[in-house]
This record gives sequence, C-alpha cells and structure tokens, in this order.
Amino acid sequence: MNADMHGSRDAKYFAAKYDESSDPWGLADNWYERRKHASTVALLPHRMYRSCFEPGCSIGLLSQALTGRCRRLLCWDIDRRAVQTTAARLRGKRGVTAEVGAVPDQWPSERFDLVVLSELAYYLCADDRLALYTEIAASLEPGGHLVAVHWRPRSTEQRCDGDTVHAELRTGAEFRSLGGYAEREFLIDLYEREPR
Ligand SMILES: C[S@@+](CC[C@H](N)C(=O)[O-])C[C@H]1O[C@@H](n2cnc3c(N)ncnc32)[C@H](O)[C@@H]1O
Repeated sequence: MNADMHGSRDAKYFAAKYDESSDPWGLADNWYERRKHASTVALLPHRMYRSCFEPGCSIGLLSQALTGRCRRLLCWDIDRRAVQTTAARLRGKRGVTAEVGAVPDQWPSERFDLVVLSELAYYLCADDRLALYTEIAASLEPGGHLVAVHWRPRSTEQRCDGDTVHAELRTGAEFRSLGGYAEREFLIDLYEREPR
C-alpha cells in the first residue's frame, strides 16, 4: 500500500483511532449508523447469500446484521482490536470468521456471492481504490452482488468523498448497476458482477 502522505490511511492511523475510543465512529449508538446498517441489509436482493466478505468491519455491528443474510461471513479489518471486538460479538455464530486483513494488498482466496463495502473505500488512495475494485470483481462469482455504502460529506480523514467512490464504481466495466438509494448523508449502491 502506498505510504506517502497522500497514500491510503494505514494501520497506525486506525490504531490511533481505536486508542482514543473502542468505537471511534459511534457505530453502536449513532442513529445515523443504525439506520444506515438497517438500510444496507434491507436493500440486499437475496434472502440468503452463500458467502459474504465484509472488509473494514470495525467492531462488527453491520456484520451482526449480515449474519442473518448469509451462511458464511468473512469479516476483515486492518485493526487487531476491532477484529477482536467483532470476533467476541459474533462468537458462536456459525460460518463467521473475523480476521485482521488490510485490503487491497491482502485479499482472501475464497469466492463470494456478496461483498459489502461500507465506509471503507474513501480511506484508500486512488491506486488502492482501483486495486480494491479489481479484487472485488475477481472474487465475486458471476451474478454475485456488491453493495457499496459511503457517507457523503467530505472529511479530512478521507482521501476522497463518498460520491467519488460511487462514481468510480458506476463506471467500472465489471459491475452492472441494480439500483440504490441516495440521501443527503449517505449513498447505497447495489451492483451485480457481470458474467465473464
Ligand atoms: C468507518 S469504519 C466502517 C465500519 C463498518 N464498515 C460500517 O460501515 O459500519 C472503517 C473501518 O475500516 C477499517 N479499515 C480502514 N482501512 C482498511 C483497510 N485497508 N483494510 C481493512 N480495513 C480497513 C478501519 O480500521 C475501520 O474499522
């Protein structure tokens, strides 16, 4: 991963966030987060997915909501403590694994029929975002779904805004848009992997 000043936010950056708070974005308590998680899950077209990958899972709140919608769930986060919290939250749930992993440099070898990209891509620099979209496309089965969710207002911690991420995904040849939802604070877009 690019480590220059304008490169992707790295593990140290997120470790400092988790030093300050065990829930830096208030995922457990903010109504914005709870509504966004519920909206994300509600937009998934299939009742049940075979296997879902959720990079950037943080402390596992969206992951928890996803457990009812997939038989296998692989949760990754760049931060070890976030992963420990996710693992503790989801302990005993069948088919769920929480691991430390930094995308796009690291990527699971499994294939998925669902990838959930929620409030992650804008922490990556442009090159890493491109690599991320390529990895997602390669690991999604044909007909598999990608759901992307990002906050719209620009923040200094991000490398670009949510609208930029979603515009990049819309122009990607690998994905066919299935629709989405937009409001002042966040975007949710749903894509299907084009058959190869
Ligand atoms: C704003 S939180 C999003 C949490 C969750 N996806 C949600 O929407 O509720 C961003 C999370 O992404 C993780 N993260 C950032 N860069 C990452 C990377 N390159 N690979 C994996 N996780 C990353 C951070 O540690 C943090 O926990």
